[in-house]
Amino acid sequence: MAFLDCSKAVSYLSEYPAKDGLSAKELMDSKVNGGLTYNDFLILPGKIDFPSHDVSLDSKLTKKISLKTPFVSSPMDTVTEEEMAIKMALSGGIGFIHHNCTPDEQAEMVRKVKKYENGFINDPIVISKDHTVGEIKDLGEKLGFTSFPVTETGKVGGKLIGIVTSRDTQFHEGDQDPIADIMTTELITAKSGISLEEGNRILQKSKKGKLPIVDGEGNFVSMLSLTDLQKNQDFPYASKSPHSKQLLCGAAIGTLKSDRVRLAKLVEAGLDVVVMDSSQGNSIFQLEMLKFIKETYPELQVVAGNVVCREQAAELIAAGADGLRIGMGSGSICITQEVMACGRPQGTAVYNVCEFANKFGVPCMADGGIQNIGHITKAIALGSSCVMMGGLLAGTTETPGNYFYRDGKRLKVYRGMGSIDAMQKTDTNANASTSRYFSQDDKVLVAQGVSGSVEDKGSIVKFIPYLFNGMQHSCQDIGVKSLNSLKEETEKGNIRFELRTPSAQYEGGVHNLYSYEKRLHN
Ligand code: IMP
Repeated sequence: MAFLDCSKAVSYLSEYPAKDGLSAKELMDSKVNGGLTYNDFLILPGKIDFPSHDVSLDSKLTKKISLKTPFVSSPMDTVTEEEMAIKMALSGGIGFIHHNCTPDEQAEMVRKVKKYENGFINDPIVISKDHTVGEIKDLGEKLGFTSFPVTETGKVGGKLIGIVTSRDTQFHEGDQDPIADIMTTELITAKSGISLEEGNRILQKSKKGKLPIVDGEGNFVSMLSLTDLQKNQDFPYASKSPHSKQLLCGAAIGTLKSDRVRLAKLVEAGLDVVVMDSSQGNSIFQLEMLKFIKETYPELQVVAGNVVCREQAAELIAAGADGLRIGMGSGSICITQEVMACGRPQGTAVYNVCEFANKFGVPCMADGGIQNIGHITKAIALGSSCVMMGGLLAGTTETPGNYFYRDGKRLKVYRGMGSIDAMQKTDTNANASTSRYFSQDDKVLVAQGVSGSVEDKGSIVKFIPYLFNGMQHSCQDIGVKSLNSLKEETEKGNIRFELRTPSAQYEGGVHNLYSYEKRLHN
C-alpha cells in the first residue's frame, strides 16, 4: 500500500467529512445513556501553544457581577458562614451564607464579610479585667494563642484598658489573681481607618506582637498581629465591589413572606447578591418573590433556581432573574431523585438550561455534583459560568463546625439542607431548611438529604489555588486560553467530546494497583 505524504497530514484533515469526536450537541443528542453525568463523557485534547498560567478564569456570576474565578460556595449550614464567605471572596470566588439561622444572625455574618479588611482581626477574643490569670492560661492552651485585649465590657466595642500576653501570664504563680493585676496598661494603639501598611509600620517600630486599633473614644475596634502580617497572603484575585472595595458577599433566602423581612436585614448589612434557595425553582412563590425583589431592590442581583429544564428556566428568566442555579438531585448529600422521582443527571441539566439561558444573557451556576477539577471544566464547557460547591469544600478549615476524630481520621460534619438534622434545627427559625423543600407545614418530615462526615481538607486559602491551577492546566490541554473561549468554542462545535462507557470510566481511574495514596496537592 502506498502511504500518503506525511507533510500533508494537517491539510489532509480537511478532507474528512466530520471532525473527530462529538460536538456538545451531538453528545447530548446521542442519548445513549439517557441523561449524562459529568463522568459519562470526556473532552478531547486540543493544541497547546501557550503556558497554563496565561489561562484566564474570569467568569460571570450574574448579569452584573463578574469574578476572577468560577468558584462559589453553597448556602449550607455546614459549608458557608462568614469565615468561608471571606476566604472565598479573597480567593476570587464568592460565598453564599446559609439561612438556617435567624435573620439577625445571617445579617451579622454578611456585615462581617462586608466589613472585613485583609490583615485586621475584626473578631478577636476579648477579655475583661475580672478574668483570672488561671482562666487566661486555660484559654491560651485551648485556643493556641496567648495575647488578649482587655476591655471594660469584655467585648469588642468596649473601652480598651489593657492587653495581656504570655509574657504577663507565663511566670505568674497566683492563678486566682485578677488579670487587672498583671496586664500591660501602657499601650501603643492605632486609630481605626489606618491602612494595613501604616499599621504594619507602627507594629514593627513598636517591637510589639499586637497592635490594638481603637476609635476616637478609645473603644477597641480590631487588632493587627505581627505573626498574621508575616504570613499575610496577598489576594490578587479578590472579589470586591468596584466602588466600596469591600469583599463581595452573597446570601440565601427562602420564598416565604417572612423572607422579605430577612432580606431587608441582609440588604441593610450590605448584601451584593441573593440566591433564592429552593430545590424546585419553578413555583409561584419564587416568581412572586423575584418580582418583589426586583421592585424593592432594583440594584440587588438575584439568582433564581434551582432548575434543570428549559421550561423552568424560561419562567424565571422572564421574571427578571440575574442568574440561574442549576441542579436537582446531583448533590453529594442528596436523595431527592430517589425519594421524589424528580431531578435530572447534572451534565444534561447544565447543557439544556445553559443553552437556553445563554441566549438571554443570563449566566448559570452549575450546582451540585462537583467532585473534582475535571467536573468544573466540564460544567463550564457545557455552558455554565460558575460552579456552586458543597461537598468539595466541606471539611475545610473555614467551614462551620468542629473537627472530630473517628477511625484515626480528622473529620467534620457535612449534611444536606434537606436532611432531618438540618430541617429539625428549628430552635432559631422554623422556615429556613424546611422551606427549601416546601416542608414547613409538614407534620412528618420527608428527608431529601443525608448527614455525614468528610475528611479534613486544610484551608480554602490553599485549596482554591489548587482548583485554580488545575483548571488552568485543564484548559491548556483542551487548547483554550479562557473559560469564555471554552464556552464559545464549544458552542461553535470546535471543542469535541467523547462518551465514556463503564469500562472507559474504569480505565480512566487508577486501576490494578495493590495500594496507593491519592494526594491531590502539596
Ligand atoms: P455537592 O457539592 O455535590 O455536595 O452538592 C451541594 C448542593 O446540593 C447544594 O448547593 C444544594 O443545591 C444541594 N443540596 C443541599 N442540601 C441538599 C439536600 O439535603 N438534598 C438535596 N440537595 C441538597
